[in-house]
Amino acid sequence: MNKLCLLGLVVGLASHSVMAETTTTPLANKNAFISNLMKQMTLAEKIGQLRLISIGPEMPQPQILKEIAAGRIGGTFNSITRPENRPLQQAAVVNSRLKIPMFFAYDVVHGHRTAFPISLGLAASWDMDAIALSGRVSAKEAAADGLDMTFAPMVDISRDPRWGRSSEGFGEDTYLVSRIAKVMVNAYRGEHPGSADSLMASVKHFALYGAVEGGKDYNTVDMSPTRMYQDYLPPYHAAIDAGAGGVMIALNSINGIPATSNTWLLKDLLRKDWGFKGVTISDHGAIKELIRHGVARDDREAAKLAIKAGVDMSMNDSVYGEQLPGLLKDGEITQNDIDSAVREVLGAKYDMGLFADPFRRIGDAATDPIDTNGESRLHRVEARDVARKTMVLLKNDNETLPLKKQGTIAVIGALAKSQLDMLGSWSAAGVPHQSVTVFDGLASAVGDKAKLVYARGANVADDPAIIKYLNFMVTEVETDPRPAEEMIAEAVKVAQQSDVVVAVVGESRGMSHESASRTSLNLPGRQQDLIAALKATGKPLVLVLMNGRPLALVKEQQQADAMLETWFPGTEGGNAVADVLFGDYNPSGKLAMTFPRSIGQLPVYYAHLNTGRPLMPGKPGNYTSQYFEETNGPLFPFGYGLSYTQFSLSDVTLSAKDMKRGGTLTASVTLKNTGKVDGATVVQLYLHDVAASISRPVKELKNFQKVMLKAGEEKVVTFTLSEEDLKFFNPALKFVAEPGEFNVMIGLDSSDVKQQSFNLL
Ligand code: NOJ
Repeated sequence: MNKLCLLGLVVGLASHSVMAETTTTPLANKNAFISNLMKQMTLAEKIGQLRLISIGPEMPQPQILKEIAAGRIGGTFNSITRPENRPLQQAAVVNSRLKIPMFFAYDVVHGHRTAFPISLGLAASWDMDAIALSGRVSAKEAAADGLDMTFAPMVDISRDPRWGRSSEGFGEDTYLVSRIAKVMVNAYRGEHPGSADSLMASVKHFALYGAVEGGKDYNTVDMSPTRMYQDYLPPYHAAIDAGAGGVMIALNSINGIPATSNTWLLKDLLRKDWGFKGVTISDHGAIKELIRHGVARDDREAAKLAIKAGVDMSMNDSVYGEQLPGLLKDGEITQNDIDSAVREVLGAKYDMGLFADPFRRIGDAATDPIDTNGESRLHRVEARDVARKTMVLLKNDNETLPLKKQGTIAVIGALAKSQLDMLGSWSAAGVPHQSVTVFDGLASAVGDKAKLVYARGANVADDPAIIKYLNFMVTEVETDPRPAEEMIAEAVKVAQQSDVVVAVVGESRGMSHESASRTSLNLPGRQQDLIAALKATGKPLVLVLMNGRPLALVKEQQQADAMLETWFPGTEGGNAVADVLFGDYNPSGKLAMTFPRSIGQLPVYYAHLNTGRPLMPGKPGNYTSQYFEETNGPLFPFGYGLSYTQFSLSDVTLSAKDMKRGGTLTASVTLKNTGKVDGATVVQLYLHDVAASISRPVKELKNFQKVMLKAGEEKVVTFTLSEEDLKFFNPALKFVAEPGEFNVMIGLDSSDVKQQSFNLL
């Protein structure tokens, strides 16, 4: 126990001790402890616990300390070092009347000091150990900075790449995202929620934020109940089942009712049906936004709706503090409305071990790192290893890749030398100058074996209005003022003197972010012209893509000899890209989100319904479900990704033709590495319910295995299917398996599959 904490106990600073005995005290004691504490709290102190504020320029530190000491703040976010958090905690546990500790939260989404690839990239690894490693390292680093909670994982299913926040989530698929949600919550927690290196997960954004209309951020969500239950809600549920202690409420409305005032969502579904026991937190300023949503006349009504709906903590506004006392006095809300919320906040603090030791994660000043940004605090080995597992080889004609470490290699593109963009959006405490660019990664890989030459080629954005938008808070996008033609001509010259061209193209990280929706999925700026000019040189052309959403790359796919999707790969991104480009690591990533052919096709996702008039391969297209100026289907399907080796897959063998209720059967394939190098791939199992009480998707992922095989090696890959895998939400929202025929499909992506059928009896 920390010295200060002990002091509090010894001199009896409070009439009771707020320190719980151990972090493993049974629930009964937790409840008793909290009830006892609540008996001593004034109304103002209770309401203070419901306030979560952002540490920033809006409130200078002396004022924050005063507010905390007065018991008017329950927790903060955006203060991210121990020296920053320590005085705040001292103000709470030394100066406040009841010594209730604060908690410190932050958006630790894909790393903290070390940036791992963005979440959409992590998902593309389909590697649960790698994803867990990224979560565990994030928690260790963040907890070592005095943080207790992360506003993550973000598990919003996203099927519309126009939405900039697609980068923050794990893609389009319910099963994959649910698996990752669980892995992440466990990884953040580690051994025990009260451990010094544990972060409490606050899963977000509850709910359905990824389904905003038109992919426009903060927009309306309107969705059928069956789609909600079947496709969009399970990942949040999985995170909660895994023990997420917090839930952040989404900014959008759901079928007309904002999530922040949605009693059905926050009470009936979350608390009653799912049994959630933790704390709910509004998103930034969302309670006041109920006025603009058009469901509250003023702050008073907004506060009433939110507390009644079940919003425990209010993020970065003072609306609860200003309005709840009056609402209570006038009988518009009950004491119980407030007490239930306070109980959850205190419960979360209890679970985080903060009553046992408020300085559990902040530690003593004597143990503070000498340099907060010190190199020794990073986890470079882990970041590099995870990053290379997330990269997806989209094309590789004539074995253009792997490159040889010889001759002259032209590296082209503004992104090739951008340290900031490597980190991706929501890069937490990541420091740009500590990240390895693609250029630097390639340079250190080749040493003096090959010559690297560079040209910028094109800016990622040229339109001053777009640049201004992206540079709203800080300079995110730096541009070269030279005319585009001059930069392209320079790049062509550099390419002509080289043996191979590596063009690093894509988006700036801020283009795939909150409030960064797009109406085009083309490469921005003049990068398309740059690629066309590089292609015209006749040199082998490798595109290294950096982007946080699927892009429409039809033209680029025709022009390039090879394409590697690297997302925003994090602190060690440049080294990881080099590992893959030179074949020191054989790529094994698979897309977690469909890449469309054009923006007009959206939404395009693999688990769609068949419709009554599907386009049949080889048959005329008239009066079928399609666009007449565009080939049906995506450019790259969900689950797609190549390797430097080749794999063959046998037909599917089922252990039986029928499955009994409560029984199981197995589906097996033989996977063979038929190429010349060792490699890993992901064997994916999909199911289709042929005739059910509601139309079921043409296929749905139900399991997968990432398998590593030596060149020439083969392996039987077996999946066990149970009745549980066949269940879905029927029109009455009952989770059932209906008898009849099911197709089992196994493939190395979602479109090229081998099929068998069985019956559920
Ligand atoms: C707003 C974002 O929507 C949310 O994801 C984030 O956690 C909060 N701001 C806090 O930074």
